[in-house]
Amino acid sequence: MPAVVIIGAQWGDEGKGKATDLLAGRIDYVVKFNGGNNAGHTVVVGDEKYALHLLPSGILTEGVIPVIANGVVVDIEVLFDELTALGARGVDVSKLLLSGNAHVITQYHRTIDKVTERFLGKRQIGTTGRGIGPAYADKINRVGIRVQDLFDEKILRQKVEGALDQKNHLLVKVYNRRAILVDEVVDDLLAYAERLRPMVADTALVLHEALERGETVLFEGGQATMLDVDHGTYPFVTSSSSTAGGAATGSGIGPNRIDRVIGIVKAYTTRVGAGPFPTELFDESGEFLRKTGFEFGTTTGRPRRCGWYDAPIARYTARINGVTDFVMTKLDVLTGLERIPVCVAYEVDGVRFDEIPVSQSDFHHAKPIYEELPGWTEDITGARTFDDLPANAQAYVLAIEAMSGARISAIGVGPGRDAIIQRHDLLD
Ligand code: GDP
Ligand code: IMO
Ligand code: MG
Repeated sequence: MPAVVIIGAQWGDEGKGKATDLLAGRIDYVVKFNGGNNAGHTVVVGDEKYALHLLPSGILTEGVIPVIANGVVVDIEVLFDELTALGARGVDVSKLLLSGNAHVITQYHRTIDKVTERFLGKRQIGTTGRGIGPAYADKINRVGIRVQDLFDEKILRQKVEGALDQKNHLLVKVYNRRAILVDEVVDDLLAYAERLRPMVADTALVLHEALERGETVLFEGGQATMLDVDHGTYPFVTSSSSTAGGAATGSGIGPNRIDRVIGIVKAYTTRVGAGPFPTELFDESGEFLRKTGFEFGTTTGRPRRCGWYDAPIARYTARINGVTDFVMTKLDVLTGLERIPVCVAYEVDGVRFDEIPVSQSDFHHAKPIYEELPGWTEDITGARTFDDLPANAQAYVLAIEAMSGARISAIGVGPGRDAIIQRHDLLD
């Protein structure tokens, strides 16, 4: 009766849908517990390619009940756009459940996200501009709008008024923008209320009952450990808890329910937006990874920053989340490289750090200490067992496993659903 958590082990875009696919047929519920439509999941099913932002990628698995839990910030327009687009392609979206406690991203959150980034200039975070940070800020500041508020017009109006009171001063006086009208926001939100109503449920209770019945619940984390607001490279992070602990607070299940934590890790590293990234490459190797791995954002289309595998980050992720298994994706992208550097430690001002330095300033200046592993040239996209891999590819996986703090239970060798090698059962 497992509750299984999937989390990104690096800075996002690890291919988290791969692990969801591996568990297809064994999952009853798939839960998004953090973030919003800042996520970008590209999932390839047969000849079909899907790009999801707000909905968890498990929605593409037949028979699974998708849940958007309380820890998520929901842009309702995006929600309906995605549901309509998936429905038109024959995906059953009728079972989606939405927590009444989830917060809503409104027009003013999107506006504030964009203007504050512009104002930060050189110091900007490079957010996705979807209003994520401002919506979570309102939640913590206790002036947020929740899904359930849409069913009480009087309360909704009061809350929007309260929220806009300060924000309009800021928008008009500091940012030189026009004020946002309460009616505009309220009318926008109310227009969705009746369509939302049938989806809204006490999702914490639903999940509790499912676990009691012995069903399998998969918690699909958006973003990643290094983007977590507490454990990531703050302030260059997202505004939610994208680590395994977030699955408990973000859904209302007890932490002792969680049986398995699966970390998704790329065979190299990428990052979108600003912030430290010790193994980042600025030469043709970086260009090679970007081109071969098709490293362009699903959400914003931005080229992703690319670099070599970073073992201290994997160990950190294993610790912070209690990772039981890693799924390593995109091993195929490394094919053709003569030698593959792997970061085993850092050097800061002549001092060796085997783990991530405590001080962010040190981490900003950390230089990777590399170990070079021999590459391979054989096409591995057709490999389906570990033994199908060339000896050097096997050695690469084993070397990384030994450095990373948990077993590598599956290996991605191509974008397709079936392009995967399984070494251990993720639930056992
Ligand atoms: P997410 O944010 O973790 O859901 O990942 P994204 O969808 O943003 O980025 C992962 C990309 O890698 C997608 O385009 C996937 O189709 C692709 N992908 C996943 N696994 C593999 C793999 O093993 N090999 C290759 N070449 N591509 C993969
Ligand atoms: P998935 O789920 C990669 C990054 C943004 C920015 C920072 C803050 O696809 O792995 P935000 O809009 O969240 O306030 O932006 O976080 N970011 C992501 N990077 N993958 C993601 O999601 C991301 N979601 C947010 O680029 O640096
Ligand atoms: Mg992504």
